[in-house]
Amino acid sequence: MAKEKAYNKNLVIVISTVAATGGLLFGFDTGVISGAIPFFQQDFQLSNSMIENITTAGLLGAVIGAFLTGRLSDIIGRKKTILAAAVIFVIGALWSGWSPSAHMLIFARFFIGFAIGISSFSVPLYIAEISPARMRGRLVSLFQLLITIGILVSYLSDLLFANNNNVESWRPMLYAGVVPGLILLIGMFFLPETPRWLMSKGRDEEGREILTRIEEPALIDEAIRQIKNEIEKDKNRPALREVFRPWLRTALLIAVGIMFFQQFVGINTVIYYSPKIFMIVGFEGARAGIWGSVSVGVVNVLFTILSLFLIDKIGRRKLYFIGVSGIVFSLLALGAVFAFHTVLGDMGKWMAIGFVWIYIAFFAISLGPLGWLIISEVFPLRVRGIGTSIGSLSNWLFNGVVAFTFFKIIKLFTVHGTGIITHERLYDPAVHGFVTKAVDNGNPAGAFWFYAVIGIIGLIWGYFYLPETKGVSLEKIEEHWRQGKKPRDLKE
Ligand code: BGC
Repeated sequence: MAKEKAYNKNLVIVISTVAATGGLLFGFDTGVISGAIPFFQQDFQLSNSMIENITTAGLLGAVIGAFLTGRLSDIIGRKKTILAAAVIFVIGALWSGWSPSAHMLIFARFFIGFAIGISSFSVPLYIAEISPARMRGRLVSLFQLLITIGILVSYLSDLLFANNNNVESWRPMLYAGVVPGLILLIGMFFLPETPRWLMSKGRDEEGREILTRIEEPALIDEAIRQIKNEIEKDKNRPALREVFRPWLRTALLIAVGIMFFQQFVGINTVIYYSPKIFMIVGFEGARAGIWGSVSVGVVNVLFTILSLFLIDKIGRRKLYFIGVSGIVFSLLALGAVFAFHTVLGDMGKWMAIGFVWIYIAFFAISLGPLGWLIISEVFPLRVRGIGTSIGSLSNWLFNGVVAFTFFKIIKLFTVHGTGIITHERLYDPAVHGFVTKAVDNGNPAGAFWFYAVIGIIGLIWGYFYLPETKGVSLEKIEEHWRQGKKPRDLKE
């Protein structure tokens, strides 16, 4: 029999924090590119469409990474999957910082994207399976907290390395990703596999040994009984087809649905384009724009910390309704500020910033952490890897669609003659240098209202589909679907 080590209440917090470093990489690698673009654009003399190819390569890598490795994590285990992602992160950071040409950069970004896709489903899944039900929400939300810290660190690293006299400033920005990659790689090496996955492979003794270290002693036998019970029921069923079976349709609808609303309330238009938004409302110069993003990053981190305290206390459903209502309100208000910006004058600037902060704060306490948490909770053990990867894959697909359509939607909803003009320094390949140009940005009022309408639909969807998983064991959630019950009837 394996030697049993003593129960340690804080161990699971340490384990989850180390694994959550995957979130730091996710946030860092998606955020860092915005500050690097102007430099490699000048360095390699690239057109805007080439820039688009480089950014898309990362997103595409993420979709494919999440898609291909879901099943793999059910076969080789959660730990090895995360370790593989860490190796790719480190190599990808070195490769992209070193890239001698734009084409090489496309491959390197695709490669890093692959790791982002893998870690974005395997880390929440790992944490959900290793934490006691009572703390699961808070521990999985550590992943989201590290995403937001990663985004903030990437802005700061962009500020630190940006040197207008050095066109190669983009290289240290991208190399910096090696640091969190190594932390994840080394840290993860020392972490255990999840007890649930081990037991699903018949490695009961190892599973029990880990469980005794992380679960409250009084609850261990019951936890093991429940896990075994669910494993027994799933035996002899082909996993791949199982995830599309009727009894799991609800779980699929929940996972894809929550990611749809997380992305379609337009979060990344604010995260990626906030410098532009701040310039549109009249803050002068690119530097002011970057400081605007840093402020968004700080609000995001602070309110995600708040969410850690709320998620296992007031529960998922309440947080969802409070958060999405706040998001809808601030989107409507932002739209109004832009629609009436000529009347509001200078006050409009501050109102726009204020509502962007309110919007981010409400996102950070709700859809941000809830998306990743819910997808890691709703699938049964046997198909949890592949199920969570479908959730994550939808996240990246929707993210891509929103990013690509944002400016088109602005154009579509701009009333003729209301476009906002800014003067920007843009790279012009024809003259091999930056020139100041007048840019008609359209007016984003209609676009923000459009996202608000999606938020309202999200409230209705949530009423029917969002389950209250607070304090409920993963096995009990599985049993709920098996009995064909409705998501909103799930209770502690
Ligand atoms: C989302 C990302 C977003 C981030 C912002 C995450 O949960 O999936 O798309 O950029 O939150 O904090």
